[in-house]
Amino acid sequence: MQTGSIWIFNFITFTQIRITMSVVRFSISLEEELLKELDQYVNDNRFANRSQAVRQLIERNIIEKKWHCNNIVAGAIVMIFDHNKKDILAKSNEIQHNYHNVILSSQHCHLSQEICLEIVAVKGKAKILTELSDKLISIKGIKHGKLVMSKTN
Ligand code: NI
Repeated sequence: MQTGSIWIFNFITFTQIRITMSVVRFSISLEEELLKELDQYVNDNRFANRSQAVRQLIERNIIEKKWHCNNIVAGAIVMIFDHNKKDILAKSNEIQHNYHNVILSSQHCHLSQEICLEIVAVKGKAKILTELSDKLISIKGIKHGKLVMSKTN
């Protein structure tokens, strides 16, 4: 066992924090083709090494599994939409008011004459945030929507 450190992105402060913890080394056997894909993934995402990429993949997978649970997580819901589309703003506003206790802040940016970007910072039970995100993203006319969540501890 050795001591290493990892960087974690904090979605609340939008800064990276360094956490020092013990690191365990182990080896993985992979098919050559899959290893090529992993190296491509490392390159495409500019990871420093394979370990960093594998760590991120494992963490993402585990966090996604926790999305439907009672764990407290923080994150952001990002939406792109055309504000001329009927009722989007009114519907989004109504849904956000229903979930006011998990919404930390929201930011609306006018990207062009028509297109808006909305970023809603959230913190609460993963399943509630997923529920809120599903409701917002499924509003008719939302071009793109995504929820990102991160552990708070
Ligand atoms: Ni706008």
